[in-house]
Amino acid sequence: MTQWLAGMPKAELHLHLDGSLRAPRLLQLAAKHGVSLPYKTVEEVEAAYNFSDLQSFLDLYYLGASVLRDAEDFYLLMKDYLEVCRLQNIVHCEIMVEPQTYIPQGVELSVVLEGFDKAIDEAKTGWGQSVKLILSFLRHLPEADCLAMLQTADPYRDHFCAIGLASAEKDFPPANFQTLYREAKDRGYELTAHAGEEGPPAYIRDALQLLSVSRIDHGVRAVEDDELLHQLAADRVPLTVCPLSNVRLCVYDYMSEHRILDLLEQGLCVTVNSDDPAYFGGDLLENFAALESDLAMSKEQALLLVRNGFEAAFLPSEAKIALDEQLQDYLARHP
Ligand code: HPA
Ligand code: ZN
Repeated sequence: MTQWLAGMPKAELHLHLDGSLRAPRLLQLAAKHGVSLPYKTVEEVEAAYNFSDLQSFLDLYYLGASVLRDAEDFYLLMKDYLEVCRLQNIVHCEIMVEPQTYIPQGVELSVVLEGFDKAIDEAKTGWGQSVKLILSFLRHLPEADCLAMLQTADPYRDHFCAIGLASAEKDFPPANFQTLYREAKDRGYELTAHAGEEGPPAYIRDALQLLSVSRIDHGVRAVEDDELLHQLAADRVPLTVCPLSNVRLCVYDYMSEHRILDLLEQGLCVTVNSDDPAYFGGDLLENFAALESDLAMSKEQALLLVRNGFEAAFLPSEAKIALDEQLQDYLARHP
């Protein structure tokens, strides 16, 4: 089945670009800029990626991102991920970009986007890659800082399809970001937010009600609230689930405990994504493969998950129909 899924056209909707920075590139850029890191070899980097919770991961994630300094670095980061899309047939991707992460290093948004634009143009002309960017905010920072970044991004409004909310969830509830989401909605952005990864189901409700999001990133803790599950299923609110991430960040002790297929069977629009593939041990295809090996996912379930990825995309309906036709064409050749 993994071969069948490898060739299948797929979407990825929950991917932090900084989380795709792999050890060899991390060490290369650290050396280029003379950034001192607590590791010298790929083996040492990977040995350090042993997390006990979201915060223990975020500490190394922000440290890793601190090596990104100039437009060439951002070009290489984007190019490396889009190459994964090409290899894994991720025909449409929605990539979370977090410009607040680069502020301590003094990197301007224009520099970040200069690098990204070059790699995206190459992938679009090279093999027809479909790419959208999500302007993702860091919720451990004050809302005023997020609003300032929203304004900084105004001249680049057409680069982004949506806004998102990432970083430490506990103690940083959706309620803190109501002005940010109202301002973003006024500017015409689509709205998504991380909720119900480490935070309680109430954060999922609040993201929907107080922030008006149309999609939830993670959302797996909805399983603790039956009424919420019914609402998510009835409204087909997409959850961008990241199975390997959930196990590596100890949301579940074992993949066999993951509830993604139960949610699928209950009619929720769950999708499969890699979150931070360089840190969690696999790209999109490896996330699907883990569901096959540890949860006995059927071909029908795999196909529903892929279709949900297209349904949940921030794309106009014509583009979704075109993606579906690509999928039908593949299935006619590879039933
Ligand atoms: N949760 C919150 N913030 C993040 C994550 C995540 O899984 N990955 C990168 N930033
Ligand atoms: Zn995430």
